[in-house]
Amino acid sequence: ENMEGKCLRPETKDVNGVLMTKFISDNWDTIWSFQARPDDLLIATYAKAGTTWMQEIVDMIQNGGDLLQCQRANTYDRHPFIEWMLPPPLKSGLDLANTMPSPRTLKTHLPAQMLPPSFWKENCKIIYVARNAKDCLVSYFHFSRMNKMVPDPGTWEEYIEAFKAGQVLWGSWYDHVQGWWDRKNRHRILYVFYEDLKEDPKREIQKILQFLEKDITEEVLNKIVYHTSFDVMKHNPMANYTTLPASIMDHSISPFMRKGMPGDWKNHFTVAQSEAFDKDYQRKMAGSTLTFRTEI
Ligand code: A3P
Repeated sequence: ENMEGKCLRPETKDVNGVLMTKFISDNWDTIWSFQARPDDLLIATYAKAGTTWMQEIVDMIQNGGDLLQCQRANTYDRHPFIEWMLPPPLKSGLDLANTMPSPRTLKTHLPAQMLPPSFWKENCKIIYVARNAKDCLVSYFHFSRMNKMVPDPGTWEEYIEAFKAGQVLWGSWYDHVQGWWDRKNRHRILYVFYEDLKEDPKREIQKILQFLEKDITEEVLNKIVYHTSFDVMKHNPMANYTTLPASIMDHSISPFMRKGMPGDWKNHFTVAQSEAFDKDYQRKMAGSTLTFRTEI
């Protein structure tokens, strides 16, 4: 079997009860012993919560709004995805991270309890982006259809059940958003909501600036808001994942930059599916102080 064949629709295997690809599971000890550096910035998210968007915002801030600098490489080469493992000779996130000079900005989808402990020990700054469950589910469904590096999602009905049961890569959305929420007051974590970012990007980017202890002019701030808007990012080849071959991501099935709107779940869930989802949601999130907006 060729290299590509091994990477496409990869096998999955649990790590501590959380579904991962077998590549990740087989290399878990190496991932767990990853050495964070004190000046690393980590962008942590559940898959499809707005990771790429936050990566572009952070890169623009770090580069003082220099567009050319932010177009130096693809998103995934600018910010190593630490747990993403591929069979050699393909480069894994860890390889990229280990050879990258400081200060690094890293990406992860790991649930908080599975984050390599060196991040806590080194007191790294972490930005967590959370997005409401139904929009995350819709986005993840379409992403899994177009991206052959993750398991096939099956039918829409099957996917709803898999998502509710946490039987998707990186596990339960419910555990993920709560696990990071629970740690936010004990660590340097900025917890950002996708819906807030969409509602008022300028306000949220100002919070990020404060967290990163960065100061920029109003002009640069406006430039960042514009450059990181959905319509601009959709046409930015260094941010929209179109430079990957169609055998890996097939944008004709569903573009990576798909809708970029809170509330798109209404175009997918039937009333009955939505009610059943909400009932299960109340049970899973009971007692949590974490609340989401499902539209803005
Ligand atoms: P949709 O599929 O709902 O459109 P991630 O980067 O974590 O994989 O998340 C991808 C989701 O974020 C996709 O959601 C994508 O369209 C959306 N997204 C990416 N850039 C965005 C932006 N600048 N503004 C709003 N949404 C954005």
